[in-house]
Amino acid sequence: MTDKPSRPAPAMRGLSTRAVHGGTAPDPATGARITPVYQTASYVFKDADHAARLFNLDEFGPIYSRITNPTVAALEGKMAALDGGVGATACASGHAAQFLAFLPLMAQGDHIVASRHLYGGSITQMGHSFSRFGWRVSFVDATDPGTVEAAIEERTRAVFTESLSNPGGIVIDIEKLAGIARQARVPLIVDNTLATPALLRPFEWGADIAVYSTTKFVGGHGNSIGGVIVDSGRFAWDARYPALTTPNAAYHGTVFVEKFGPLAYTVYGHAVGLRDFGPAMAPMTAFLTLTGCETLCLRMERQSRNAAALASWLEARDDVAWVSHPALPSSPCHELARKYLPAGAGAVFTFGLAGGYAAGRKLVESCRLFSHLANVGDTRSLIIHPASTTHRQLSEAERAAAGAGDDVIRISAGIEDIEDLVADLDQALGGT
Ligand SMILES: Cc1ncc(COP(=O)(O)O)c(C=O)c1O
Repeated sequence: MTDKPSRPAPAMRGLSTRAVHGGTAPDPATGARITPVYQTASYVFKDADHAARLFNLDEFGPIYSRITNPTVAALEGKMAALDGGVGATACASGHAAQFLAFLPLMAQGDHIVASRHLYGGSITQMGHSFSRFGWRVSFVDATDPGTVEAAIEERTRAVFTESLSNPGGIVIDIEKLAGIARQARVPLIVDNTLATPALLRPFEWGADIAVYSTTKFVGGHGNSIGGVIVDSGRFAWDARYPALTTPNAAYHGTVFVEKFGPLAYTVYGHAVGLRDFGPAMAPMTAFLTLTGCETLCLRMERQSRNAAALASWLEARDDVAWVSHPALPSSPCHELARKYLPAGAGAVFTFGLAGGYAAGRKLVESCRLFSHLANVGDTRSLIIHPASTTHRQLSEAERAAAGAGDDVIRISAGIEDIEDLVADLDQALGGT
């Protein structure tokens, strides 16, 4: 949002081209080819009139880095270009992006229909912390679109799902959910963190808003925490969304949809969301994420291929009880993966060890190449045994319901050579 939230240039059609060039023209101030880290809190006004125009939102431009920053704006432009959106809002984390994505839509007592196949932290955020604002959430089985439709009520203001779920790799029929949301005249918000625009672009299937934890595959190197909201600009905001459609007293009565048209939601995200709640992305994070984005398509292709190869290799072993990856013909999501994820079905998957809890602990401790840690989406291969780590506070029954039963191992495949990854798992499992 340095000048205007950027749109993809019409000539930049290819996804890899957008990954490299989207949002990142040479620096207008210096000609630097790589977008510099604008490590500054604020920006000198040309004169008092210029300052007034910026503060009135009559002109876009940087005022203070909690609201806009040129390095962060370049990342916003790149993500908008990758997804085919009109604008984007970068945030301090994926969770901050989810919070700011709902902020313009929700009032006390309003309601969200959310998939129950979500990252556990999102279920906690939405199920526990959102209720502090009076935002109500119904979790439903989004693999059965009928349950989404049945859960919509008068005060529902959004439908929320992951496109490819963490950790189970469940593929959601976004086109069907978009149809249901359209019928109810509410936006479909898709957390596209695990697929990324390299594998799936939610707006092509009718979704209205995409959110990302850029901490994962978008940044791709495990070096920074961030998040982004991308707006398709297509949703017709009406009176049920008063934050966008009625006069805003803090901006002298500005009505965001009247003044900013399709950019209303993105401008609100900066001018109200970031201004008043403050979870801004740091310029250095934007810089690292911009660099990561350039190789997004290459990484996602390679990491999906490595994951699919590991999944088939594991499925053939006697000490592995089951494997869940949508690329496997045995997966109930295989057909949906062929439709939505033709370029690769993602790098994250789970499997179950016949030896249960003890075998899980032993496996993660015995890996030499895989890193045992709580993250996904790094260039390095990662492994975790949720029951003895992230989910250890839960009861056995709760762990099973969360897809973190005693036998479950989660892998996030990296970009290494597949032979080395197989050899590492093989030695850690104690050979064949
Ligand atoms: C699918 C998904 N969405 C959102 C988040 C939250 O992102 P962050 O950790 O950047 O806040 C995560 C984190 O693991 C995730 O996996």
